Amino acid sequence: MRTSPFHRRRWRAAAAPLLLLSLGALAAGAQTDLTGYWAFRVKDGGVNYMQLQQTGETVVSVAPAGRPVGRDGLLSGTLHEGKLHLAGAGPRQAVYDGVVENPNRIAVTMQATGRDPIKGTLERVTREGAFPARLPLPELRDVPDNGLARTPPMGWNSWNKFADVFDDATVRRMADAMVASGMSNAGYTYIVVDEGWTSGRDANGNIAGNGKFPDMRALAAYVHSKGLKIGIYSSPGPQSCSGKMGGGYQGSYGHEEQDARTFADWGYDYLKYDWCSAGEIYGRSREEHQGAYQKMGEALLKTGRPMVYSLCQYGVGDVWKWGARTGGNLWRTTIDIADRWDSMDRIGFAQIDIAGFVQPGHWNDPDMLEVGNGGMTADEYRTHMSLWCLLSAPLMAGNDLRAMTEETKSILMNPDVIAIDQDRDPKPVARMSQQGKSEVLVRPLGGNAFAVGLFNRGDRPAEIGFRWDALKFSTGLYGFRRLQAQDLWKHAPVEVSGDTYTATVPSHGVVLLRVSMAGGRGF
Ligand code: GLA
Repeated sequence: MRTSPFHRRRWRAAAAPLLLLSLGALAAGAQTDLTGYWAFRVKDGGVNYMQLQQTGETVVSVAPAGRPVGRDGLLSGTLHEGKLHLAGAGPRQAVYDGVVENPNRIAVTMQATGRDPIKGTLERVTREGAFPARLPLPELRDVPDNGLARTPPMGWNSWNKFADVFDDATVRRMADAMVASGMSNAGYTYIVVDEGWTSGRDANGNIAGNGKFPDMRALAAYVHSKGLKIGIYSSPGPQSCSGKMGGGYQGSYGHEEQDARTFADWGYDYLKYDWCSAGEIYGRSREEHQGAYQKMGEALLKTGRPMVYSLCQYGVGDVWKWGARTGGNLWRTTIDIADRWDSMDRIGFAQIDIAGFVQPGHWNDPDMLEVGNGGMTADEYRTHMSLWCLLSAPLMAGNDLRAMTEETKSILMNPDVIAIDQDRDPKPVARMSQQGKSEVLVRPLGGNAFAVGLFNRGDRPAEIGFRWDALKFSTGLYGFRRLQAQDLWKHAPVEVSGDTYTATVPSHGVVLLRVSMAGGRGF
């Protein structure tokens, strides 16, 4: 429809004061309407997306339709004279204080409880940019075995020690220390870069490192030059979980094949794939999880590069029953471990019932090691290491390899204990007996031997014992031939006499034995 000169004049007459009004408002910064979608971005840090609604001077965040409340819980506060103040009800109790620079950008300092303040910007984004729509998942089918990880993977991962506050140089120094400390000789091979390396995507949609990780290809080459292998981290969701710096980092959602190709092209040997924000896209059912992991499992296989595939979705939907079908080599069976006795104890001893699900190439992962991080005693760390090895768990050290005490080294690099973990014929560990807080765990080993762990989960030293004839040797009753036993932490033989073995086990400690037939494969 053509407008008459009259109409045009009337529009101008009406628009002029409006224009003046909004320019005035901009200058004052007070009338800016923040209603819409925003990204809180931190340089070389994460991103936190939110939907804001403004009424007068009141500003609140809302959960976008069909999406859960964000990581800060619901935010509420004010915009007054160009100054934004928002406080979150979520567990990290984040408070955002900002100054409006223009209607699409606010300079912000975010303070979470117990953390250093973080400077970043709130930038206006589209709904799709903040909360992408769901893409279809593939039909479920079995991804062929990649043939890797015939014994539980061993290595180091950045998360337990550094969270996302680390950089390329930290990783290189850790590779150096892996070799210099003897860890690589003890079997530790993979250096895994966990959350914190991405900035986003380039114009072609390629995932890219941030200022702390400017050249992921060069980093891989460096780690390889040390005779080690290198791992990388991503998520089936749009973003990873959330480190200490702002929010989550770029995930592989909608770019699975592209990212798998990038990781392969850069020379990575291992991918940890962490559910995180995938929970905002997909449902909670086992099928949804399986589909999302299968998608990346297929993408990794398609690259032709051997890459260990590490699933991390905290055990949802009994992942141990189907993780291998997605091409997974290991799968987290639990929520995150913390460097505390109660956390390690709860997680570790809960694994025994599912120990039957491990097989070469496919491992239950009760999370990474905390040994050497300082939150537990040496006895507790020996329990941690003994238990993880009895479980055939992946051994991913999570401490600073540059600064290990002799005690830490003696725990992480005990060859006899590691040999249990790396047994080529992994039989499940089982409970032989349990009395109060005392447990005896037993695991058959290759070479007609047994590992026996006497664990004291209680607060006082305890006498713990077992009958020698509870060990069912395939060559018949032990009485026909002599047994030999070795205390793997004392590095000393144990006398085999009488019907039972009894030891005084310190609080939260362990006695770990290897028992075999005398004249069989010795020590
Ligand atoms: C989750 C995982 C951790 C670690 C963090 C990174 O919590 O379980 O192992 O990767 O994400 O945010």
